[in-house]
Amino acid sequence: MDSQTPSSTPILELRDLTVDFGGVRAVNSFNMAVAPGELVGLIGPNGAGKTTVFNLITNAYHATSGQILMEGKNLRGLSPDRLCHRGISRTFQNIRLFPFMTAYENVELSIHSAPQYSLFEAFVRLPRARRKQQESRARAHQLLETVGLEKFAHARAGSLPYGLQRRLEIARAMAASPRILLLDEPAAGMNEDECKDLVNLIRQIHESQGYTIIMIEHHMAVVMDLCRRSRIYVMQLGANLATGGPEQIQNDPQVIKAYLGERKNVH
Ligand SMILES: Nc1ncnc2c1ncn2[C@@H]1O[C@H](COP(=O)(O)OP(=O)(O)O)[C@@H](O)[C@H]1O
Ligand SMILES: [Mg+2]
Repeated sequence: MDSQTPSSTPILELRDLTVDFGGVRAVNSFNMAVAPGELVGLIGPNGAGKTTVFNLITNAYHATSGQILMEGKNLRGLSPDRLCHRGISRTFQNIRLFPFMTAYENVELSIHSAPQYSLFEAFVRLPRARRKQQESRARAHQLLETVGLEKFAHARAGSLPYGLQRRLEIARAMAASPRILLLDEPAAGMNEDECKDLVNLIRQIHESQGYTIIMIEHHMAVVMDLCRRSRIYVMQLGANLATGGPEQIQNDPQVIKAYLGERKNVH
């Protein structure tokens, strides 16, 4: 893939995306175009607007202006439910699991958030509903296995170590069978070994599931490794600062300057 722009029609495109919170312009004419199957990094200093971009894509926040297009179709104004049906799911910077439910239940719940049978069918336990339930049980276990959590299926989510909760969030986001997966700082709070395992996991699910992935991440080693054959968008003050492959980004004087104040980013 060319390191500058996707050659095929973008699966997701942001055009001049802008949002104001009171007097603060958190996202300022931000542009992004992601090709189907691409794994794109989104980085920038704290407060740059990265999470807000995810909140705009998922319509948790409403854009002040600009366009959010999936395969050329406007997504602005669709409910989160409808977005889920379009195939966009996400993880959160601050983990949002149900801590008192088991790992298995957290994943299974997301499969059920898009049930393929009616309440009536479930009530009278028609064979179709029963079969679907068996299928979703198997799928939940399979997803837990994919993220390496099969041994913890019946552990309470809140009792799991932090790194495993992040993996569980990924399994939960995958449960909706998305086409686009948005990962918000999946390596946050992880040590170096956990980061390496996470890189392998994300690479494996990217390659095996054919997802398009946009990943916000603060750990530079994680971003540079995962995006080594693709592109990284750098945001500053809500706007595009730079876009390119890892080498290009690491040597960009403007990017280096933007990060100088953030010692934890300098690896
Ligand atoms: N709901 C909100 N209301 C007001 N300001 C917000 C809101 N959400 C985000 N912001 C502001 O938008 C800016 C970007 O925040 P955020 O997207 O969380 O940054 P990042 O994820 O890059 O660290 C920050 O100045 C933040 O305070
Ligand atoms: Mg953030």
